[in-house]
Amino acid sequence: MSAFAETISYGKSYIQSLPLYVPGKSASSVAREYGFAEDSILKLASNENPLGVPESARLAMMAIAANPSACYPDPEATVLKARLQQRFGVPASWITIGSGSSELIDLAAKAFAGRGDSVVVSEYAFALYELAATSVGATAVVTPSRNLGHDLDAMLDAIDAKTTLLYIANPNNPTGTFIEETEIRAFLDHVPEEVVVVLDEAYSEYLPDVQQTSPAKLVEQYPNLVVMRTFSKAHGLAALRIGYCIAQPHLSEMLNRVRPSFNTTSFAQAAAAAALMDNEFLSRTRKVNDAGREQLCDGFDRAGLRYIPSAGNFVLVNVGNGEQVTQALLQQAIVVRPMNGYRLHEWVRISVGLAEHNDRLLRALL
Ligand SMILES: Cc1ncc(COP(=O)(O)O)c(C=O)c1O
Repeated sequence: MSAFAETISYGKSYIQSLPLYVPGKSASSVAREYGFAEDSILKLASNENPLGVPESARLAMMAIAANPSACYPDPEATVLKARLQQRFGVPASWITIGSGSSELIDLAAKAFAGRGDSVVVSEYAFALYELAATSVGATAVVTPSRNLGHDLDAMLDAIDAKTTLLYIANPNNPTGTFIEETEIRAFLDHVPEEVVVVLDEAYSEYLPDVQQTSPAKLVEQYPNLVVMRTFSKAHGLAALRIGYCIAQPHLSEMLNRVRPSFNTTSFAQAAAAAALMDNEFLSRTRKVNDAGREQLCDGFDRAGLRYIPSAGNFVLVNVGNGEQVTQALLQQAIVVRPMNGYRLHEWVRISVGLAEHNDRLLRALL
């Protein structure tokens, strides 16, 4: 490092103190690091869909690849929005498309918070909320969890005159905890209308039908609400980076003002439009996940390991020393997620795989 760089402090102090978000290791990096063949790696670290990419989405991408364009993609994602409009019964002006819902989480912070504002998040809620709030200079107010899930009363108590934004994940990652819609509504009834609430439903497609919310009904009733979803999980498109959110136009317009125009590729838009309508793939995904989650939990029960009942496609399980168990599994080419970043040192989060994946994991773990 030059003497110049040593004496100058670049960047904002609140960015310098941001903890680095550590994503799940990729199969290729584990293969390189541990000398395994890439196809021998079992990746259960990032809650991806073990069924892969839906054939409908693959064909949609192939059609684009057969006739590629040198032009920028449609900045309005018109075709995808039309499908979302059809699926959810909201006008296109209520929809914002992001490069994954990660980007939408960031855009919400950028649009609705800044220096001097506070953003309320729960302990053990998805880590990106706190990072997004801090990265725009706002203060993240972290409320204590209840049974490792969101304590909505504590979150309400934490709202004050400085609060402009609040994030809730339902189901939550990494804990898998779930809050019934009646409770969410009771909470929303008490949030001051000048505070924007992001309800992140990244795992909603894994819920039984009766537990699924209607984003349209919710956002119609609550003008301060943004409901976010993603194509990365149940739709199998994590590699494509695409997600969406639904909110009334006064919020959507703000999100679109801070959204880079060409934030999603033509491939991602086309794949998402196809995947959204692929009910057969979604129902297969849910079946495989229900069975796989049960298989994992039965295995944990047999081994006397404590776990948190999960509404998502992953299970948080107490293995005593999360980092040690993660390293031991890596030696067997299995990648799970240690939870040190969440200060849950005894736990690991394991994504639900196909039956043979879960079996291999359980045999290695127990
Ligand atoms: C609760 C939650 N929200 C949002 C995301 C971001 O997903 P993506 O950016 O792939 O849409 C994740 C990813 O793990 C998540 O668990």
